[in-house]
Amino acid sequence: RKVALLGVPIDMGASQRGTLMGPAALRTAGITPVLESLGIDVLDHGDIALAGVAPATDAIPAKANNYRDIQTWIRALSPRAYDLARSGAIPIFLGGDHSLSMGSINGVARYWHEQGRELFVLWLDAHADYNTPLTTMTANMHGMSAAFVCGESGLDGLLGDEPRASIPPAHLDLFGIHSIDPLEKKLVQDRRIAVADMRAIDEFGVAVLIHRVIERVRARNGVLHLSFDLDVLDPGIAPGVGTTVPGGATYREAHLVMELLYDSGLVGSVDIVELNPFLDERGRTARVAVELLASLFGQQITDRPTPSNTLS
Ligand code: ARG
Ligand code: MN
Ligand code: MN
Ligand code: MN
Repeated sequence: RKVALLGVPIDMGASQRGTLMGPAALRTAGITPVLESLGIDVLDHGDIALAGVAPATDAIPAKANNYRDIQTWIRALSPRAYDLARSGAIPIFLGGDHSLSMGSINGVARYWHEQGRELFVLWLDAHADYNTPLTTMTANMHGMSAAFVCGESGLDGLLGDEPRASIPPAHLDLFGIHSIDPLEKKLVQDRRIAVADMRAIDEFGVAVLIHRVIERVRARNGVLHLSFDLDVLDPGIAPGVGTTVPGGATYREAHLVMELLYDSGLVGSVDIVELNPFLDERGRTARVAVELLASLFGQQITDRPTPSNTLS
């Protein structure tokens, strides 16, 4: 098994600066040796370079803060994501704020669509990130990435010449959501997007809800991209993010999600985003992130055989 790491130190998509230090903190917390200890062949491509991205000339949308900066990152990232997916490795995109998913998912989706495979996206997040420039209350682009990935309009010139590869809204699962803006909520409802909010997690537990996601992907022989915003975790275990919301997922819930995803064998690419080392407490959040990635890549306490995923 091969993993390709690519750092994407963006922090212009959020209101709070500092996620640009995220890739370094994940490396310091041992992401490479931890994955290697699981028998994975890890190739760290370092942080993405922006040199060589041709300047864009499209009109800057109203209500999209730092649009040109984000655009430069996204236009550099999408083709890299495409190449990494094509290399046969599982790419892990180390953020950086969540706006990076506009580029990582676009590139990965383009690759899988060329292969005749459908891409599904599991959005693990306290937030829906389903704003557009028309619905946003903050103009922060990290709150728009899921909408962009689903082909919503409003940032139409963002990719320049890079082909846009959207997924249908029916292929998005919002999971762990516990904060949403009024117009954003209306858009999520209009598009009939599947939402497992914290209420659903409390009622049914993560196992039932994740199995539902997994079965949907499997039924279509799809591939799953995990877009993991660390703010889905309760601030008590993950204080190092810019937009903490109380009442997040517990340590055990998050590990179970990762273990179930590992067992499914469906995850083809990963974003790990919103880690802000400037706000972290002695590296706790970076460490939790790496522990969770270990579970996603097969770390277990007992080496029991992978259980059947059918609940019957
Ligand atoms: N909904 C809010 C906004 O649009 C918060 C988004 C937070 N997103 C994130 N990736 N942390 O600004
Ligand atoms: Mn979030
Ligand atoms: Mn997010
Ligand atoms: Mn956040």
